[in-house]
Amino acid sequence: MQKNAEIKNAPAHIALILDGNGRWAKKRGLPRSMGHKQGVKTLEPIVEHCIKIGVKYLTLYVFSTENWSRPDDEVKGIMDLLREQFKNIEQYVSKNVRIKILGDISRLDSDLIIQINDAVEKSSKNTGLTICFALNYGGRDEIVNAAKKIAEKIEAEELSSSEITAEIISDNIYTAGIPDPDIIIRPSGEKRLSNFLLWQCAYSEFVFMDILWPDFTPDDLDRAIEEFSARSRRFGGI
Ligand code: FPP
Repeated sequence: MQKNAEIKNAPAHIALILDGNGRWAKKRGLPRSMGHKQGVKTLEPIVEHCIKIGVKYLTLYVFSTENWSRPDDEVKGIMDLLREQFKNIEQYVSKNVRIKILGDISRLDSDLIIQINDAVEKSSKNTGLTICFALNYGGRDEIVNAAKKIAEKIEAEELSSSEITAEIISDNIYTAGIPDPDIIIRPSGEKRLSNFLLWQCAYSEFVFMDILWPDFTPDDLDRAIEEFSARSRRFGGI
């Protein structure tokens, strides 16, 4: 196994599905909220590690369009963790991290929307790692939104249907301007995408790992990168 400092050619864009918090808590007889709390703690060394090895973009699937169906107290718990995270924006700004949001945050509480917009604004000039928080994010929702935006441009005669290309679609989704993920990592043992980055994953490498997110360490990230590095990416060529 490679040592941390030996990781060469780190993927430019890593996307992570933060899965397994509930099972982590259940195994310990704790409420699910404790799993999410631990899940946030897990994040800090992962962010540090991404900075250290030169990752440019880290996308985190934090809250999906489907997660609203969870019990109210669990949703509230996750929203409170987000409040803590974005209140403490200095932890990111001081590391030259830029914050971006993927998803429709208009459904969140207004105080949280203000905090999030403030974090995005305060970090917007940073040039180091970009962390994309996928919040109230759904891949299908993103594509539907892009279709609406493009249709509006056609109605306003700014665009004609014959001009629609894959690039136009990429420019109208939440990740506009961000390269597609090189690797999508899902811990927890589940082997599915769960509506994450459906358009962007066309040539991403998937790494599924049998570890719950709250137990995930920088060494696990290195293991995933090592597996990614051993694969031959041909992007449809030979
Ligand atoms: C999936 O695990 C996790 C979530 C739906 C929420 C992820 C949220 C956090 C880690 C906390 C907020 C994050 C930040 C960065 C503030 P699960 O609950 O589906 O786990 P299970 O499949 O074991 O039940």
